[in-house]
Amino acid sequence: MTTITNRQYYLAARPNGAPTPADVPYRDVPVDEPAEGEVVLRNLYISLDPAIRGWMGDDPNYIEPIALGDAVRASVIGRVVKSASEEFAPGDVAMVMGGWEQYTTVPAAMCSKLDESAGIPLSYFLGVLGPTGLTAYFGLLEVGKPKAGETVLVSAAAGAVGSIVGQIAKMQGARVVGMAGSDDKCQWLKDELGFDEVINYRSCGDYAAAISKACPDGVDVYFDNVGGDILDAALACLNKFARVAVCGWISTYNIADAPGPSAKNLWQLVANSVTIQGFVVIDYMERFPEGVGQLVEWLMAGKLQFREEVVEGLDNILPTFLKLFDGSNSGKLVISLPE
Ligand SMILES: NC(=O)c1ccc[n+]([C@@H]2O[C@H](COP(=O)([O-])OP(=O)(O)OC[C@H]3O[C@@H](n4cnc5c(N)ncnc54)[C@H](OP(=O)(O)O)[C@@H]3O)[C@@H](O)[C@H]2O)c1
Repeated sequence: MTTITNRQYYLAARPNGAPTPADVPYRDVPVDEPAEGEVVLRNLYISLDPAIRGWMGDDPNYIEPIALGDAVRASVIGRVVKSASEEFAPGDVAMVMGGWEQYTTVPAAMCSKLDESAGIPLSYFLGVLGPTGLTAYFGLLEVGKPKAGETVLVSAAAGAVGSIVGQIAKMQGARVVGMAGSDDKCQWLKDELGFDEVINYRSCGDYAAAISKACPDGVDVYFDNVGGDILDAALACLNKFARVAVCGWISTYNIADAPGPSAKNLWQLVANSVTIQGFVVIDYMERFPEGVGQLVEWLMAGKLQFREEVVEGLDNILPTFLKLFDGSNSGKLVISLPE
């Protein structure tokens, strides 16, 4: 019997700043036969998410840190190549929390079967129809709670989550203002996604002044993807009873000993009776079928546009992951491992 070799990128050391090849080296290991109830997936797509950087550290988080020596954790979509479960046959396609590796061996009970016959690109189940779209959907509608006529400000607006947030906010009848890091991204938001106003935060100068100018009636909902100084500036522009949906703080993830956001404008929470609430998408797990159903409907109706950047090859995974932190990604970032 021929042994299958699995290349995997694993966590050798907790990064201090941006992860390096020494923190995340690779090794080639044999793929074992699945134990009773397990399947072996040949991964086709690996999702690259900013959250992975958090799991590489050991600060308290919403899930356990990646253990040193383990493959870097990520959502994957793969084809079953070996099955010791009645639920899956070789050839089936499944999505599961796997790793930065060619083959993932997991209990079948943790896998969600995907239907290839629907004609939807499989990678979309990691993006617009997966955790990314669901984060935007539940974070905006359940935490931000925008009403028609209100102003919604979203940061990292041209990113995977942010671009969907803005489009859903438009569908609620809100005025939508996006902040992004390049003129090209801003133009895409305005010309193609229908954002009402955009701010290139790299060239705008004073953030609070730029937000005030783009939001002359103030901000009712701030969907925060970045934290740091942009969060602080947004706090200074909030209306009475505004909501801040804290989705992520990507500006801090690679800062060694991150100081957290400046608290300068936190008093605005009191001054304007503001609600600020963090969330993680898995808070809404029981409602995922509802969210996916709505996202599919919008996508099929042409009401939702979605950009993804698919980079081929496992050996490109670390440099590709780092694109999330310098803004050189264009939409949802995915590694593909063609069959
Ligand atoms: N709470 C949850 O359940 C949940 C789930 C998914 C994602 N998230 C969070 O959502 C946020 C966006 O994630 P995503 O997957 O959609 O990634 P993404 O927005 O597609 O990519 C990250 C983007 O962040 C921007 N960025 C990077 N460093 C920045 C900085 N220092 N200041 C301002 N912007 C910066 C870059 O865009 P520019 O070119 O515009 O700078 C980059 O393209 C992250 O904070 C992530 O942790 C949370």
